[in-house]
Amino acid sequence: MPDVYILGIESSCDETAAAVVRSGEQLISNVVASQIATHQPYGGVVPELASREHLRAIVPVVRQALAGANRAYDSLDAIAVTQGPGLAGALLVGISYAKALSFALEKPLIAVNHLEGHIHAVLLEERQKGNHELKFPVLALVVSGGHTHLYLATKTGNSWTYENIGHTRDDAAGEAFDKVAKLLGLGYPGGPVIDRLAPHGDPKAVKFPPAQIKHRDRRGRNDGKAISLDDDRPRFDFSYSGIKTAILRYVESHNMGAAVDSRRRALAQASKPKLEDYLANTDKSTLDLVASFQRAMVEDLITRTLAAAEHYRVSTLLVTGGVAANQELRQTFERKGAECGLPVYFPSRPLSTDNAAMIAAAAYPKFLARDFAPMDFSAEAGMVLR
Ligand code: KG4
Ligand code: ZN
Repeated sequence: MPDVYILGIESSCDETAAAVVRSGEQLISNVVASQIATHQPYGGVVPELASREHLRAIVPVVRQALAGANRAYDSLDAIAVTQGPGLAGALLVGISYAKALSFALEKPLIAVNHLEGHIHAVLLEERQKGNHELKFPVLALVVSGGHTHLYLATKTGNSWTYENIGHTRDDAAGEAFDKVAKLLGLGYPGGPVIDRLAPHGDPKAVKFPPAQIKHRDRRGRNDGKAISLDDDRPRFDFSYSGIKTAILRYVESHNMGAAVDSRRRALAQASKPKLEDYLANTDKSTLDLVASFQRAMVEDLITRTLAAAEHYRVSTLLVTGGVAANQELRQTFERKGAECGLPVYFPSRPLSTDNAAMIAAAAYPKFLARDFAPMDFSAEAGMVLR
């Protein structure tokens, strides 16, 4: 099989990204233009601004990815793009540009699910390290700003399929990091800031009750199928709105409001606050709260994921998505995985958060299976992985 060069394009949320990957196993170039500075003043992603920023960035970002790969447009074998899930307007920018390139270059177009992309970020880097032998059954935890989903992944020939066996009932884990950071006056995005501050606090200072999931999921399974009464496959769901509310109550009952406001104002003055700026504006009790919150999140994610891994007797665990960049999560997963003899793989930290290398990597098996997208395919904001 000759080498296959795929250009990946990703624009589902607040990163405009393009990458060239060879045969699903070698990252040739990877460009990510972050919109953090645009959304920071609003404390979260503003969809209209995201679309506008994607429009500005898409052409130079793709050009830079090709220049970095030292490849001409007509030497590409296919163009892959994120179809969903994500912000509809943001997705459309990447999709329209990918269609234009595919049409002009007469190269096949491949539509990729963003969540499948996150899973293939791990596979790409493992192949790059020479690890081609993945032991099945494989369980993947996709933990990001929009998702906290567990999938059993199966490969038949060149085709991958996924069964959802757990998902969050309310907030995604990354969303909880972002909301907690926001309500503590630490800005956006919250995950990276909490990750850096947590080692400076006492993780045992504040106790949070474990999330209770009592009722069956009335929304149905996350693979689009309704739960029937005879569907007794156990599910391993998550819930993170309770811990967010507990933090809010803690801040109120400990009269931390004034400190939060002054921290928010102080950090807004710095365009790119450094760790010293955060530490200078964060008192001991807030650092303890941050460390305790992160510890509770990490323990909950790991306990539920390892319970699912044990139940389904999986041989490999993949942990991916923005929250997989978290240091404490990575270290604890590795330690607990080793204790129960389960190999745990993560993407490198740059490939944990949104990027286009994962889209180009996930497109490779589809290229082999000639699973190409028609020119009239559209964005699917709520796209399900199956
Ligand atoms: O995968 P991603 O880049 O975008 C989505 O698909 O959502 O994930 C972004 C999420 C945000 O909620 C961000 O706060 C979180 O991942 N995140 C982290 C870390 N880096 C990013 N959460 C915890 N620790 C981190 N180091
Ligand atoms: Zn993502």
